[in-house]
Amino acid sequence: MNVRDSEAMAALLLRHGYAMADSEDEADVILLNTCSIRDLAEQKALGKMSALVTEKRSKPTLRLGFVGCLAQCRGAELLQRVPGVDLVVGTQRFHHLPEYLDRLFAGEGGIVDVAEEPGSESAVRDHLAEGAVTAFVSIMQGCDMRCSFCIVPQTRGAERSRSIGEIVEEVRELAEHGVREVTLLGQIVTSYGRGLIPKKNGRSPFVQLLEALHEVRGLERIRFTSPHPKGFGDDLVAAFRDLPKLCEHAHLPAQSGSDRILKAMRRGYDRAMFLRIVERLRAAQPKMVFSSDIIVGFPGETDEDFEQTVSLMREVPFEQAYIFKYSKRRNTPAAELPGQVPTATKEERNQRLLAILNEIATRKNRELIGQTVEILVEGRSPKNAARMFGRTRTNKGVVFEGDLRHKGALLPVRVQRATALTLYGILTDEKR
Ligand code: 5AD
Repeated sequence: MNVRDSEAMAALLLRHGYAMADSEDEADVILLNTCSIRDLAEQKALGKMSALVTEKRSKPTLRLGFVGCLAQCRGAELLQRVPGVDLVVGTQRFHHLPEYLDRLFAGEGGIVDVAEEPGSESAVRDHLAEGAVTAFVSIMQGCDMRCSFCIVPQTRGAERSRSIGEIVEEVRELAEHGVREVTLLGQIVTSYGRGLIPKKNGRSPFVQLLEALHEVRGLERIRFTSPHPKGFGDDLVAAFRDLPKLCEHAHLPAQSGSDRILKAMRRGYDRAMFLRIVERLRAAQPKMVFSSDIIVGFPGETDEDFEQTVSLMREVPFEQAYIFKYSKRRNTPAAELPGQVPTATKEERNQRLLAILNEIATRKNRELIGQTVEILVEGRSPKNAARMFGRTRTNKGVVFEGDLRHKGALLPVRVQRATALTLYGILTDEKR
């Protein structure tokens, strides 16, 4: 989400006559787009800004700003906390940055804007694109769920969705410029259009959006993140069977495998319900691959609760996962719960899950050795410019010997070698 927001901000500023600096040293203005999901993310942003303020002493013309979630939560307080900061802009006001930067360069300082703005969900629209094969598309902002651990409703506000027409238009333009795959973004995409777009032929607004995007010419693949498991109604499950462009990968944030903890998290499902969603998706699309978000060390999590999470990871199984140590967030119900788990225990559980994930992913990826998979070629391999890189529909990275002219193509690759994170293969003969 932050990567996409940063891209939109950069594109917007470029449109207003600003230029991208090649390095921090050359920049006249540095904006930190911040995340509040865990304390660590906030500490990183504050630490980085303190270092920038120190640099500013030898370069007084430098202008510094906080944007994003930390800015939204802390507002003007940040000016005192890190003296030297010139600008604080919250999550609904990104698109006013050109004006604020102009004012900073005209000599103004201490600008703070963390207001809410109806319609701001449509402001994340500009792309840097140039030659990109894949793109993120922001379809909604905010979240109306009230998971007890989560700060997002405070930082991103209430759910607001863009219209189907506007999103289709953006994707059509991207496809005309060579984009073959889009990932639809939102804090809770399965709630897309709720209260705004009526159900049609049993289709929720989100499925209507998927169907509309499916018609965009030149677009080959559709992904989305993040959904809520409860959002997988029969219409969305059927979409994985009926819409060939919808990739057979679902990111299903489980958070925990323990009913007791899920209840305390206020997730609205239990383990059995979660597994039923997995089952229904697999019935609709047998090749489905699952990934997840997991929190370890939620208040009150016992060894037994944790073992339930371990067994859920294996039972699904999750082939990829983001594992987080629970982090107390301001003004969230879980922060006040008894039984906060010691850091060392969280660390231990985190390491254990990472090891299990690694084992599952390695095993699953090795099963692909000898098989031919379809990849979308994104460009050169980030780690080895002599090789090319693509992704399978199941979202696995594939490195292969190829040529820059393959960029943007869908190609069959035979897998020869696999690690937990990457497949290595060769183009199969018929398409060489
Ligand atoms: N502590 C740890 N992880 C969290 N997440 C959200 N809030 C917290 C928190 N307080 C994780 C969840 C969510 C992901 C985006 O971040 O797993 O799905």
